[in-house]
Amino acid sequence: MNAKRLTALLTLSLAILCLGCPSQPKPTTGPAERRAAKQAERAGQPARTFTIGMSQCNLGEPWRVQMNKDVEEAARKHPELQISFKDAQNKTEVQQAQVREFVAQGVDLLIISPKEALPLTKPVAEAYDKGIPVIVLDRKVQGDKFTCFIGGDNVMIGREAGKFLVKKLGPSTSLGAVSVSNRGKGSIVELKGLMTSTPGQERHDGFMEGIKGSDLKIIFDADCHWLEPDAQKEMNSALSRFDRIDAVYAHNDPSAHGAYLAAKQEGKGREKRIVFIGIDALPHEGIKYVEQGILAATFQYPTGGADAIDIALKILNGEEVPKNIILGTRLFTKDTLPAGQYIAPGEQS
Ligand code: FRU
Repeated sequence: MNAKRLTALLTLSLAILCLGCPSQPKPTTGPAERRAAKQAERAGQPARTFTIGMSQCNLGEPWRVQMNKDVEEAARKHPELQISFKDAQNKTEVQQAQVREFVAQGVDLLIISPKEALPLTKPVAEAYDKGIPVIVLDRKVQGDKFTCFIGGDNVMIGREAGKFLVKKLGPSTSLGAVSVSNRGKGSIVELKGLMTSTPGQERHDGFMEGIKGSDLKIIFDADCHWLEPDAQKEMNSALSRFDRIDAVYAHNDPSAHGAYLAAKQEGKGREKRIVFIGIDALPHEGIKYVEQGILAATFQYPTGGADAIDIALKILNGEEVPKNIILGTRLFTKDTLPAGQYIAPGEQS
């Protein structure tokens, strides 16, 4: 075989061999094509995903279920975000451990709605010191070792609740007494939220400001830990001790409802005479109670869930965010249904 024939034979067998080879992706040629390919890849699948750890103090209360829903719904619009939820089942130690687990997992950002301020301060500070941005939602921690706090203005809500009762128990309802002042007069039961959590403390402080200078007196108060059964039990004690109760200021709607049930079950019709007010204003809870005439008023307590996702995106994209974001409220009474009356944070109605 001469050299020419040998080369032809080799070329032919190489060609046959290559026919059996698996097909390789065609290399892109120019930079424009490469850019287009990257864009297409990005459109289908985001270039970088971020993991967010969301530590919820409990999911036993409808308001918290709503908060997680709000976070989830807002995050769904951003495929680059992956949220991992943990429920501390209303146990401080569990929440402390879960925050530390998120840190150990190396989440890109932490969102926490803490059960109590003091015991959650350290785990949050540890995460923050390790460089993990932390958004604190609704209930506060102590100090400033967190990236951003988002929540309602609890002092303002408490103050508005106090002013509402001063007006409601004013001259026209004060047992026919003729009075030209509008100082309000009455005996109040205050069913507090968990007093080691900041909304409980602030809702009380605000309320005291709101009733200052009036003739409203708190004759009974108890820590009901935000829970309806606890509020019902405490209201039973109040009813057995006091013949006259004009109003119940409950720090949340479940507690206001518990107090109403206690008065109803007492069987003396006092549930019709006592003015019950609460806070949260979930459509299927507090607002319904106002519609049904059970509550005279409820103040919306925004969950801040969607705001947390907006802020998380900014932080993850390296933008500066404010240290505190304070949200407004809406007052729902039979006169302001269905939309409620908006009150901006820090404002006086
Ligand atoms: C739910 C809740 C709400 C209340 C908020 C205060 O756990 O008790 O009813 O407004 O927490 O943090």
